Amino acid sequence: MKVLVATEKPFAAAAVKGIKDIVEAAGHEFALLEKYTSEDELKAAAADADAMIVRSDKVTAGVLEAASRLKIVVRAGAGYDNLDLPACTARKVVAMNTPGQNSNAVAELAIAMMIFMSRGQFTPATGTEIMGRRLGIQAFGNVGRLVGAKAEALGMSVMAIDPFIPAEKIREAGAEPASDLKELYSSCDFVSVHIPATPETIGSIGYELITSMPKGATLVNTARKEVIDEAGLEKALEDRPDLKYVTDVAPSNIESLKEKFGTRVFATSKKMGAQTAEANINAGLAAARQIVDYFATGCTRFQLNR
Ligand code: 3PG
Repeated sequence: MKVLVATEKPFAAAAVKGIKDIVEAAGHEFALLEKYTSEDELKAAAADADAMIVRSDKVTAGVLEAASRLKIVVRAGAGYDNLDLPACTARKVVAMNTPGQNSNAVAELAIAMMIFMSRGQFTPATGTEIMGRRLGIQAFGNVGRLVGAKAEALGMSVMAIDPFIPAEKIREAGAEPASDLKELYSSCDFVSVHIPATPETIGSIGYELITSMPKGATLVNTARKEVIDEAGLEKALEDRPDLKYVTDVAPSNIESLKEKFGTRVFATSKKMGAQTAEANINAGLAAARQIVDYFATGCTRFQLNR
């Protein structure tokens, strides 16, 4: 079987080598497409692939049609909004992710972003400390829980909410459960967003929630830019000159935000939350093992389109 690693944003070299070793040790062929610049390039490389490992690369119905031999695609990472799952199902392609494997990298970035913004983006102006502040975590999954534990160790108090996790589980993990989003946003100095991009969540964080945050608060988004209502955010930052926004990755109105709000806003130009050697190795090798296991035993653990 031919296993293609197709990553517009390449993995660390050690991760690529690890994936190649796993694939070849199982008797499969390894192929690599990195830094491609068009969907056509991806389609051409995928044409004879039996399996594919991707990151945020868009696996559209068109790509799946071109990849006529494809049996399995693994998103090396958590969020799978880049995979067209109905199209995978229609073509009998098994789609998987590797939950938890890159969570620590994203959690570290969320903490770093809070400190970066509290210190005026590392300008000499007098900043503030995060110790003693309250952090709200929106979605208490793999990343959210790690952010909570790290924040607690730094002396913050942590509140969290998750529609799929009961309040007692949140409490057991050391955080105070919020009764609703309004409570989370209105009572936390920082809110760290960890929700996936789904039809229900896209554009769901807007003017009302953001302006309910207390004086001097910062919204931290290491999830997906799409979950923010960008016009609502811009208006909130206009009406509340004390609020800040930091995000991985840049919203479409970033130029306007930077011009209007200067150091109250910061955005990475390319999504970098999971861009560490460790996260690449954890997620990349897990993806390779999932593919090898699927071909060897039919194991469908982590399948998303059942
Ligand atoms: C994820 O969902 O796993 C992260 O957003 C990482 O995405 P990336 O692989 O494109 O860095």
